[in-house]
Amino acid sequence: MEHAPGIARHALLERVSLRVGPGECVGLIGPNGSGKSSLLRCAFRYARPDSGQIRLDGTDIWQTGARWTAQRIAVVLQDAPDAFGLSVEEVVAMGRTPHKRPFDGVTQEDVGLVTQCLRDVDLLAWRYRPFATLSGGERQRALLARALVQQPRVLMLDEPTNHLDPRHQIGLMKHIKAQRLSTLVALHDLNLAAAFCDRLYLLVDGRIVAEGCPRSVLTAARLKAHYGIDAVIDDHPVHATPRITPIME
Ligand SMILES: Nc1ncnc2c1ncn2[C@@H]1O[C@H](COP(=O)(O)OP(=O)(O)OP(=O)(O)O)[C@@H](O)[C@H]1O
Ligand SMILES: [Mg+2]
Repeated sequence: MEHAPGIARHALLERVSLRVGPGECVGLIGPNGSGKSSLLRCAFRYARPDSGQIRLDGTDIWQTGARWTAQRIAVVLQDAPDAFGLSVEEVVAMGRTPHKRPFDGVTQEDVGLVTQCLRDVDLLAWRYRPFATLSGGERQRALLARALVQQPRVLMLDEPTNHLDPRHQIGLMKHIKAQRLSTLVALHDLNLAAAFCDRLYLLVDGRIVAEGCPRSVLTAARLKAHYGIDAVIDDHPVHATPRITPIME
């Protein structure tokens, strides 16, 4: 993938092999700078890998057009884009673009989908507000709504719970899971990853160092080795997922 000018050239990702099954929610975890966003950028056909392939149902996505990919893969990015004065509703409706031809108008179906998705992320009351006036967490939820009106087969999200308060973190992850789409999500919150992901990949320095169910990937030894933190890992007292408690001292 393309390096920014003036930065020494080295591989950002190496020998990465990752699979997301139908309806599976797969988490991508790893320290800052480990390559999570870079991997997602390759996977949603933004950055072309120097070697290797990204296949969707057996089709190499770089052998198709951007529109083909956009009809199948929806993305929620780490940083909210500038919305150039658009309303929340207009930003969300942009998710329909890959399904339209030039000069196609907005259909009743489009309006219904936008309304439904805005309601689902708890933003229906603000549909006419300028997107730029939303808080960080509200923007993030609007961007999830935009991804869902795209009616994708695959959802890719880069730290979608950034900026969200605890209720909306849990609400967003539940909502994502409920879609039953093939989902690849980069997460820093290991407890959210443990609770919501079917499988995890741990990325360190551009390589996958562990993969499997959250319980098998999230060990105290790995958190120490790769994040440099001490943590107690036990069972969540209410649901059957691992609980990670970092030791702060
Ligand atoms: N276009 C680029 N050119 C050169 N280096 C880059 C480029 N994009 C990313 N990098 C570097 O590659 C490494 C991985 O970056 P990336 O954004 O993928 O990490 P990340 O795992 O998403 O980190 P974070 O948790 O902070 O979001 C970093 O060291 C980053 O500085
Ligand atoms: Mg990142």
